[in-house]
Amino acid sequence: MTARIAVVTGGASGIGQACCQVLASKGWRVVVADIDEAGAKRVAAEVGGVSSRLDVGDEAGTRQEAARIEREAGPVEGLVNSAGIIAVPKAPEDLSMADWDRVTHIDQRGTYVANLAFGQAMTQRGLGAIVNIASVAGMRSFPLHAYAPAKAAVIAISECLAAEWGRKGVRVNTVSPGFTVTPALQAKFDTGERSPDAMIAHSALDRLIRPVDIANACAFLLSDEAAAITGINIPVDAGWLCANGWKTYPGIRGNWP
Ligand code: NAI
Repeated sequence: MTARIAVVTGGASGIGQACCQVLASKGWRVVVADIDEAGAKRVAAEVGGVSSRLDVGDEAGTRQEAARIEREAGPVEGLVNSAGIIAVPKAPEDLSMADWDRVTHIDQRGTYVANLAFGQAMTQRGLGAIVNIASVAGMRSFPLHAYAPAKAAVIAISECLAAEWGRKGVRVNTVSPGFTVTPALQAKFDTGERSPDAMIAHSALDRLIRPVDIANACAFLLSDEAAAITGINIPVDAGWLCANGWKTYPGIRGNWP
């Protein structure tokens, strides 16, 4: 039987890379799509897939690349959109509109562009599943005045497309990671910009998240086991959301004096 094809945008690093690894281990033929061409090639070689140089910020280029992938690799049945840029916390008066536009352009618009570029062929065939990576920042208030609204929009985009495309055989869901130790977050730990301790202190499970934890949820949502699931958002956050209210007490009970 020929392998089903899944495209992972942002597949060269972090959560996207873990998605490529997990999907390949479950028998998918993976297309590693990333603006970082060398990184995409490296991961593609690692998972026995193929690579694609794809910039979700470029609408026409993304559509062309999606068409090329369909022509050369075959019909795409699965899509994970992990391409994104992580923002620095800033007060609104310090956040330039140029930076706001850049984050919104990639994280929000880019996710929508990739959904359309691959989703339309899926709807024509009546078969496909898409997972968009949002964030717990799209579900609660954060000092990230472009990133958090962009991620809230990703959840809304997924719900709208799920309703739009459900009758056409395409499922669209969201996974919202909590604090996940990827190269992007590790770099912030290394510079002291973020503290793992502060993140773990308010996690019910007393830990950070591994990229593979996110990838496992994505692989489930792409699989036939999730055939009746569309339009939902699964937070994979080690219990950070449920522990939020406890911050007004001395925190999670294990931290109490
Ligand atoms: P990462 O920086 O390790 O990986 C992101 C990948 O996206 C990189 O390979 C990068 O080259 C690619 N990329 C960036 N702009 C692109 C573009 N215009 N077109 C195509 N590819 C592009 O970051 P990480 O941590 O793996 O993040 C992946 C997704 O998960 C992002 O959407 C991020 O917002 C989200 N996320 C991450 C969290 C974390 O704690 N690491 C928490 C919540 C959400």
